[in-house]
Amino acid sequence: MDKIAELSLEGKTFRLPVVEGSEQERAIDISALRNDTGYITLDDGYANTGSCQSKVTFIDGEKGILRYRGIPIEELAEKSTFIEVAHLIIFGKLPTSAELRRFSDLLTDNELLNEAMKHHFEGFPTHAHPMAILSSMINAASCFYPELLDPDRKDTFVVQTARLLSQVRTIAAFAYRKSRGLPIIYPKPELKYTANFLHMMHSLPYRDYEIKPEAARALDLIFLLHADHEQNCSTATVRMVASSRANLFASAAAGVCALWGPLHGGANQAVLEMLERIHADGDDGSRFIAAAKDKNSGKRLMGFGHRVYKNYDPRAKIIKRTCDELLVKLNVSDPLLDIAKHLEEAALRDSYFVERKLYPNVDFYSGIIMRAIGIPIEMFTVIFAIGRMPGWIANYKEVMEAPTRIYRPRQVYTGPTLNAYVPLKERK
Ligand code: ACO
Repeated sequence: MDKIAELSLEGKTFRLPVVEGSEQERAIDISALRNDTGYITLDDGYANTGSCQSKVTFIDGEKGILRYRGIPIEELAEKSTFIEVAHLIIFGKLPTSAELRRFSDLLTDNELLNEAMKHHFEGFPTHAHPMAILSSMINAASCFYPELLDPDRKDTFVVQTARLLSQVRTIAAFAYRKSRGLPIIYPKPELKYTANFLHMMHSLPYRDYEIKPEAARALDLIFLLHADHEQNCSTATVRMVASSRANLFASAAAGVCALWGPLHGGANQAVLEMLERIHADGDDGSRFIAAAKDKNSGKRLMGFGHRVYKNYDPRAKIIKRTCDELLVKLNVSDPLLDIAKHLEEAALRDSYFVERKLYPNVDFYSGIIMRAIGIPIEMFTVIFAIGRMPGWIANYKEVMEAPTRIYRPRQVYTGPTLNAYVPLKERK
């Protein structure tokens, strides 16, 4: 029998349907509440609001579980690649060899930006933040594909997906080269997705960058671990924009903007800056921990805490292990890694962090890996954006395939009641 929740309000009882997900997550369907009762629900920051039903990613924050289309992240991290996982997330299944080859070829065929885009890069000042360039250029790219503007064209979805997934990496590398005043390096079709990105980032017109396989693998893993994370701030933004029937590129560009903030994707940059500051101050992390616990200091232990995980972020465990192994393989010793480990140990023993269930999240160690493979700090959030693209595309697809009404939350108004307009001359 279907479950029903009962709400008692002003002497009346209202019956609300209970929706149950495939992992027994239960939600009370309040979509008719305002019509039936005149009330809305209030949930500042959406901590208890299910904004959609989705088949892409499952997270159990209490148990530290993350699965893409049902497959545990640990297994994908060990056995798969970013592009295979992108196929899984977007199309709902692991590709066969033939499907994977077709998908990879399609990405290669669409890796070049329209040449006219080069002029747009010229317009940005040197030292422009690459996230600003990335979001602008993703939007600008849509201008070259007029068929994108028609949300009802389903026949172009696969090619639009390939363009976006492939070109986000080209744009990201170009944005970096621009921010450093370096010449643009074109992609090489024979290289795999992540190696190609490293080539475009680091090669010179007269000398190819030597791509270390372990570095390419570590970066591919970072992309894979970021590929989706259900209704986080940027993905919810993509769905919000998509619900207005905006095109795929416009929706993804909005996702990039949402991701930029330091409480979301910007945290990986903030973690490295924090570690560098701690190192420069000659602190082993203890003073910083004390400041992070003091609400008046304005400081937080960046890379710690998560809205959903109240346990170890499973991605953080994988990243930490990869970080340890990579630094050994590359023969790099990084004092920031020692500081990070000390911070983690100290925080996990400290009642402030324990009581609030604050554990390291995916950003805590990813910056140290990126630093070791020569990714500059201002590119960290861009790397996150490249990785998150499959999740944004899959969520866009869900919105388009089961079009609901435009996303439009309500509010509880707390401003002035009816107020008179005072003519300019009479205002004090
Ligand atoms: N350092 C110190 N205290 C913290 C931290 C932190 N990193 N995170 C949370 N707290 C404290 C808060 O001050 C609050 O304390 P209080 O109950 O005494 O007032 C309590 O823990 C709950 O914090 P909220 O901000 O309410 O938790 P919320 O779920 O809204 O925020 C967030 C989650 C934004 C991730 C937060 O933990 C944070 O700011 N972390 C640092 C930034 C970061 O690493 N972001 C990356 C997130 S993962 C991602 O986007 C990939």
